Amino acid sequence: GQDSPSAQAQEQEQKHEEVTVHGWIKSVRRQKHIAFAMVNDGSAPRGLQAVFPSPELAKGLTNGCSVRLRGALVASPARGQTKELRVEAVDVLGACDPAEYPIQKQALSVEHLRDNCHLRARTDDAATILRLRARATRAVNAFFEDEGFCYVHTPIITSNDCEGAGEAFRIAPASASPSDPEPASASTSASGSTSTPSPHPSSSAPAGPAPSLSPDSSSPASPPAHTPASLEFFGHPAYLTVSAQLHLEALAGALSRVYTLAPAFRAERSLTARHLAEFWMLEAEWAFTRSIEDVCGVVERCVRRVVGACAQEGGALGEGGAGEGERGGQEGGRRAQVRAWADAPEPWPRITYADAVRALAASGVRFEFEPAWGRALQSEHERWLAEHLVRGPVFVTDYPAALKAFYMRRNDPRAGAGGGERETVACVDLLVPGVGELAGGSLREEREDVLREKIRQAGLDEAEYAWYLDLRRYGGTPHGGFGLGFERLISWMSGVENVRECIPMPRWAGRMLL
Ligand code: 4AD
Ligand code: MG
Repeated sequence: GQDSPSAQAQEQEQKHEEVTVHGWIKSVRRQKHIAFAMVNDGSAPRGLQAVFPSPELAKGLTNGCSVRLRGALVASPARGQTKELRVEAVDVLGACDPAEYPIQKQALSVEHLRDNCHLRARTDDAATILRLRARATRAVNAFFEDEGFCYVHTPIITSNDCEGAGEAFRIAPASASPSDPEPASASTSASGSTSTPSPHPSSSAPAGPAPSLSPDSSSPASPPAHTPASLEFFGHPAYLTVSAQLHLEALAGALSRVYTLAPAFRAERSLTARHLAEFWMLEAEWAFTRSIEDVCGVVERCVRRVVGACAQEGGALGEGGAGEGERGGQEGGRRAQVRAWADAPEPWPRITYADAVRALAASGVRFEFEPAWGRALQSEHERWLAEHLVRGPVFVTDYPAALKAFYMRRNDPRAGAGGGERETVACVDLLVPGVGELAGGSLREEREDVLREKIRQAGLDEAEYAWYLDLRRYGGTPHGGFGLGFERLISWMSGVENVRECIPMPRWAGRMLL
């Protein structure tokens, strides 16, 4: 015969799992004969509801304290969860004074959380973003593995400014201070270093940042304080890397297909929602390619794959605290839109810079900066192209050579890449709605003579790039690659507007570090 409902319940009762749960208390609700708390260990967006058969048991619990709870995992009558913990024993492992705790239950301003970024991941949204970053990282690795790329580790300390834009941070040991006396010249020459001029190009550098983005970028960055060269990197000037690209090129010249996901540093004065002084860049480089379309293809497949893999992860954003409802709604709309673009069967459009400028000029929009061939696309232009012209991700190719870094491959003028007589390079920027530039790539100049000329034109020190020129002399290949701002990707996918909320401990101009 059939078991009666009470027999079934009794059987279930015996099957109750005895568990120990570690985590932090997110909220406590006390009633006369019972108490409830949400406990979360950060492994998933939603915590576990803990039920305390007597309010006494929950006496020492406050928001933010860490606990060990022992009890039985039982079916939950409450909506939105299948199980809850019926608590039998409570240990408070770390108390948390509710009067002082900076992470209160009510809505907290973005600024308050930035000021407390050592505690920021205690909020549901910040924790969700970190899990999203981890998910995206796994998807990136899976993608490149499937595409036959080798994951390589590139240096953080370099002797060059890859982008030639004068945004590299110069490094020196803490013991070096400008007041230190210059050490004996013998030690300098013993190190084999002749005085190496700064790799920063003159202020007429072609790859300068867009002037409109920053309130104070119109005045050139002040030169780094003088540090005796012998006190820098064991006698050599040294910088934090702005991009792993040049090193990836060296490795692609042996392993054919390589990528890395690594920190990049820029003395970036732009205080925008998409600039950080320390950010993570996904960069890939591969040999034996001659087509910018190939570069677009890898970028597009990669971004689609990551968005697809992260589709579930960002869903919990904005569910939490009070006041987040509206924001959560907007972010949710953007996430759905991004997923739709990632799933759309047709390839994302490719247009040339020349056509983009023509479309901008014909738009009838009064931009702050008038678009014209030869001028950099400003963020207002990039946004219009993605948000109004295409209404989705768009690849813009073949920019004027004068706007781009020295390593990009010069287009054959007769190939008519849209620039007519004017010199262009085989490059591409991926622009997306809401963010603007998400990734940039190019074919690299593999012709030694052309590259040498471009290094000179850019005002760079040829001696610093001797090893880079070697790559062309010894079995050079046509090759290309790209770099993608990881925080910008997280921002785009999650709908979280500012990249400062897309990295655990953001660094930007003027921010006190921890
Ligand atoms: O366009 P960028 O400067 O290109 C390079 O560095 C190339 N060497 C990459 C390559 O081809 N391997 O930077 C690449 C991407 C940008 O498209 C942007 O998404 C991101 O890196 N990025 C930043 N993200 C946050 N903060 C900053 N200050 C950034 N600067 C660039
Ligand atoms: Mg770029």
